[in-house]
Amino acid sequence: MAVRLGDIAPDFEAPTTQGTIKFHEWKAGKWAILFSHPKDFTPVCTTELGAAAALKGEFEKRNCNVIGLSVDPVDSHVKWEGDIKDVTGHEVNFPMIGDPDRTVANLYDMIHPNAMETLTVRSVFVIGPDNKVKLTLTYPASTGRNFLEILRVLDSLQLTAQHQVATPADWTPGDDVIITGAVSDADAAVRFPGYVAKKPYLRVTKSPAKA
Ligand code: BEZ
Repeated sequence: MAVRLGDIAPDFEAPTTQGTIKFHEWKAGKWAILFSHPKDFTPVCTTELGAAAALKGEFEKRNCNVIGLSVDPVDSHVKWEGDIKDVTGHEVNFPMIGDPDRTVANLYDMIHPNAMETLTVRSVFVIGPDNKVKLTLTYPASTGRNFLEILRVLDSLQLTAQHQVATPADWTPGDDVIITGAVSDADAAVRFPGYVAKKPYLRVTKSPAKA
């Protein structure tokens, strides 16, 4: 069964490169990004893991834990980490789940048999401090993900969780935001003074600060 936006992210216990974790306990009170890659010792995946590791400080600033997964076992992940450091210059600094029996992959519907019969696709789940799924992405094996985009999305999710605003196309932190329809014009005038109504349904304001 697919995991959808707003669902409670399924809990699990699994072996990782940093020991056995219980997912909800491991992320307690924090944001989390759970992402799958198809296979260890493969080229695109090697670049992705390095790119994610390079952003560790950025994820930490956002109170967000990161965890990877593939259907390869933990001892394979550990061996592969040396190659990732060699090629990308980055030590893998987050746990990677070994899931050879596909327990977690099945729980999160990460195997799409019409794309690849037995390997996980490139799934991303962003999960909030309340353990609810805030974002899902699915990429095919042939396309590496843009981890700066995942960071950008996290910024949007965190801002819009705190304020009654939405972020427009191609938004980046600091850009103007949109006041949601749940806010009346009268309230908007008080809470977002100087806002501009480009259309009655498109009201733009300076970005409030993220806590
Ligand atoms: C890759 O990471 O390059 C890859 C992994 C699985 C299938 C195809 C490509």
